[in-house]
Amino acid sequence: MGSAIQSPPRGPTETKSSGSTSVSVDVNRLLVGHRLAEPIHDARGVLLLAPGSTITSRFKELLLKRGEQTVKASPVDVAVFDEAAAKSESAGAGSDVAISPQTTKLIEKFDLQIQHGSLLVKNSGPPLAERVKSRGTSRYEAETVAAHRSGQSQHASANAELMGRVRDGQRVESHPLMQTAAETLAMLLDDADCAIATALNDLDGRNLSDHALRTSILSMAVGIEMGLDEDNTRLLGLCGLVHDWGMCRVRPELLNAARTLHPVDFLEIKKHPIWTLEMLQNVSGLPQLAAMVCYQSHERPDGQGYPRGRKTPQTHPFARILRVVDTFSALLCERPFRHALMPAAAMECLVSLVGEDLLEGDAVRRLTCVLSMFPPGSAIQLSDGRLGRVLRRNGNHTAAPIIEVLPREAWDGSAAEVVTEVLNPRSLGVSIQRAIPRCDRVEGELSGEDIDRSRR
Ligand SMILES: [Fe+2]
Repeated sequence: MGSAIQSPPRGPTETKSSGSTSVSVDVNRLLVGHRLAEPIHDARGVLLLAPGSTITSRFKELLLKRGEQTVKASPVDVAVFDEAAAKSESAGAGSDVAISPQTTKLIEKFDLQIQHGSLLVKNSGPPLAERVKSRGTSRYEAETVAAHRSGQSQHASANAELMGRVRDGQRVESHPLMQTAAETLAMLLDDADCAIATALNDLDGRNLSDHALRTSILSMAVGIEMGLDEDNTRLLGLCGLVHDWGMCRVRPELLNAARTLHPVDFLEIKKHPIWTLEMLQNVSGLPQLAAMVCYQSHERPDGQGYPRGRKTPQTHPFARILRVVDTFSALLCERPFRHALMPAAAMECLVSLVGEDLLEGDAVRRLTCVLSMFPPGSAIQLSDGRLGRVLRRNGNHTAAPIIEVLPREAWDGSAAEVVTEVLNPRSLGVSIQRAIPRCDRVEGELSGEDIDRSRR
């Protein structure tokens, strides 16, 4: 494939526009996905894009259709275009952003569906919530825990294998993915808290396929909470499994960079929803809606997401759920530049991001109902000083989940883990004072920097 940023003409002409220096730049050099530091004007000085706007391929297309060959941009933005072009040339095919004609057609079709408002979700059966077994305050059954652990591990491996085959150019069937969604959904219906605790605590979210399975399970739980029927819930779970496949084409040195990423590096990461879309065209029998949901799963309510900068009404509800769950799961993982966040700190972070219009409020509220503010498996300290671990959600009491109390000796690993009591904080007059790091993990609390890094 050739680069979309091909043979940029060099040597822009500097002119003065509206009192500030601007540079005449060829439209083909405008970098899709770049957020402008300064405005772009046409040759006559008419404002085309305001500062903070994101350049889209549609914008470029419209300019070319209008016969505009050059626009005026600030030297700061033009330097980013130049650097991206240089990087694209030196990195070769690996950082290629060219979109195949087939993918372009598909994107145009999605755009038409969006314009015609075909983003509503309709149930054809009864809400699945009626079939979720109520487990009260009971502990997880040992056989159930074992079944969830081995099932989730097998499903994550199967997903990794399929993703690898598609990355290598093979065509695969969607059937195994649909089966994974159906089987994990059955586990969720049987004991949702146990399935979620296993996904949060046993899957390794740094691994792409584990992260995908966790996203799938949590998204289905959110979907059930929203009142979806079985078909829709399974479709949502399927989307979770494949929504980030394109990440396997991002260079590992970018994914594992301990440094703060340069805006140009981040532009490469922003290509991954398009790569996902391309990969999904090699999955036979995958519903086209699933491909569109994955393509949109990195958009943000404020319209500053990617790849198209769509606002909430122009995104599919499943894409909005995926973005919330994906963000939550990512926060639980250690990164080269930060510790993993405690689940309670990650929940706190999601709430802050809703306040900034970066995540959709309803999806976060539903996730809070599913997990509570102290998700299953969280280590906590009670107001009477005892230590414990969150076992289950407690109806709609999101600040007071069901707790299993552990002796202090078990906590630091000096004695076997024996649960002394399972309690409902609401009926005993105690409260959860704070979340604490798990004894077997390096987990951090929420910092302003964590919120900053999660804005992307
Ligand atoms: Fe992603």
